[in-house]
Amino acid sequence: MKQEKSCGGVIFREQNGLRKYLVLHSIQGHWTLCKGHVEGDETEHDTALREIREETGLSVDFVDGFRETITYAPRPGVTKNVVFFLARLSGGTLACQPEEVEAIRFLPLGRALAALTHPSDRDTLQKAHSFLESRRPMPTPLYDSLRALADTRPLRLDMPGHHGLPLPGGLSWPSELDFTENGATGNLFGDEADAIQAAEALWAASFGFDQCLFLTSGSTQGIHAGLALLAREGGSVALDRGSHRAVYHALALLGLTPRFLPRPWLAQEGVTGPISPEMVADVLSAHPEIKTICITSPTYYGVLSDVPAIAAVCHARGARLMVDAAHGAHLPFLGYTGYQAADVVVMSAHKTLPAPGQSALLFANGFPLFELQRWGSVYGTSSPSYVLMAALDGVRHYMETEGTARYQSTVRLVHELRRRRPALTARAPLELDPARLVLTSPDGFALANALRSQGIYPEMADWGHVVCILTCADGAAQFDRLEKALDRSGLSGPCAPVPAPPEPPPMVLTPRQALFAPRKRLPLGGAAEQISACQIAPYPPGVPVIAPGELIQKKHLAYLVQIGYNRDGSTAIDVVR
Ligand SMILES: Cc1ncc(COP(=O)(O)O)c(C=O)c1O
Repeated sequence: MKQEKSCGGVIFREQNGLRKYLVLHSIQGHWTLCKGHVEGDETEHDTALREIREETGLSVDFVDGFRETITYAPRPGVTKNVVFFLARLSGGTLACQPEEVEAIRFLPLGRALAALTHPSDRDTLQKAHSFLESRRPMPTPLYDSLRALADTRPLRLDMPGHHGLPLPGGLSWPSELDFTENGATGNLFGDEADAIQAAEALWAASFGFDQCLFLTSGSTQGIHAGLALLAREGGSVALDRGSHRAVYHALALLGLTPRFLPRPWLAQEGVTGPISPEMVADVLSAHPEIKTICITSPTYYGVLSDVPAIAAVCHARGARLMVDAAHGAHLPFLGYTGYQAADVVVMSAHKTLPAPGQSALLFANGFPLFELQRWGSVYGTSSPSYVLMAALDGVRHYMETEGTARYQSTVRLVHELRRRRPALTARAPLELDPARLVLTSPDGFALANALRSQGIYPEMADWGHVVCILTCADGAAQFDRLEKALDRSGLSGPCAPVPAPPEPPPMVLTPRQALFAPRKRLPLGGAAEQISACQIAPYPPGVPVIAPGELIQKKHLAYLVQIGYNRDGSTAIDVVR
């Protein structure tokens, strides 16, 4: 069997971030990659360079590390090996070698693959493309552009006042990347397709939404912007009674009236359960004028509601769903896709992802970006922090690479710890965030204090629980330290029973009237028959026992006493004067 050998290149060029590959039309009528026979004592690279120059008129630089061989039989009794290198266009003038080449095209991958005649060429091109993708620099467009600008050592005569120098007192802060809108850094609320929008688009694609807006004032900003986007001013919303106070403030600012969606009380766990789609359907049927629904999922205790089922109920009635997922930014990276069914979702990156305080995300389906920007800019600073935004960019990339595997390992450790220690565990209908560790105890406050005395600071404690936020930043050593401290405390155990919260008091003023009314401060115990101007939301139950605008009744004060809230009588409440 006769052996032949050729060498050639998968030639590519990159312009404005778009890569195109060279394919050529041979005079035999095939679309192929560039290649030719080895002559004399040429090395493989010599042959490839010469053939590329002769056939195309172009010069190239080889990309190290790629060498792909294909073998085929061009004629009976002949075996041919073709060695391909990866060749980045570096110069020359495109010119077809008349005896061999009829036409040359630079095409994006998909069209280049479709053009090539031989499967082996397609296979080589695909491998070359994958090789280049695997070596791409971090796809963090905002971080990259800020870093590149900082590296030019610009004279910064704008905000922030540190002008890129380290902060006084050795306080470490990435001043170099702490820019303002300067014509080169983009504009969070602007129209231009800039690096910020590119970074936001990567988040939106990663989580399966049409749009993403970076937030630099936490989920609080996103909740205000999201409710303004969906509900506008006035009208009613169907509201998770357990909403965060940011939601109650948004109601007041927007003049919205809530119709509360109750949650079941899970006596065994001492927490509220999920919002049911049936409950949402009932409220929407009774109040067909309501077109905005706002729920929290997961709750502080990690309780998830069935977002796709609730979204389906809303959409079937022409209503739209906003989810406060402040504690759920890690879930899509763990494979949870439920949020995609909602219209607006707000997430605090800073709570459960390795992201700096205040960094958060507003996602939406069915809205253009400028609508999110409009409301984001109403409730956010006009000087958003580029450090926070660049961190959001970097966090996504980290999570899409090594972060997710680390988070999965944390989830496994949480799962094992939940089996060994008294803790909330999933059971129908209780679906839990797999990463949220809620330890139970006959005295949650004492357990939290015992942990703190050993240098361990949980997120929150109530009478029966200690809530710990464990993330991809925590590994076996951190879990081990926590378990040893739990052993020493001797305070793990089932939670003390907590009675279900009473029916909410009657609402006699809207949240807006209550927020803006003149107010006075009274001892809580003496506030019966007053109208509350604020929220009293002890944990547990984790839902407001009294909300702004509600007429406080004796039974609510009695419940608060019963669950040990305001034990020493020092708690005050703001009421309408
Ligand atoms: C359920 C929920 N929503 C919203 C927020 C507000 O988030 P941020 O602190 O990011 O503004 C919080 C804060 O704890 C929260 O627990």
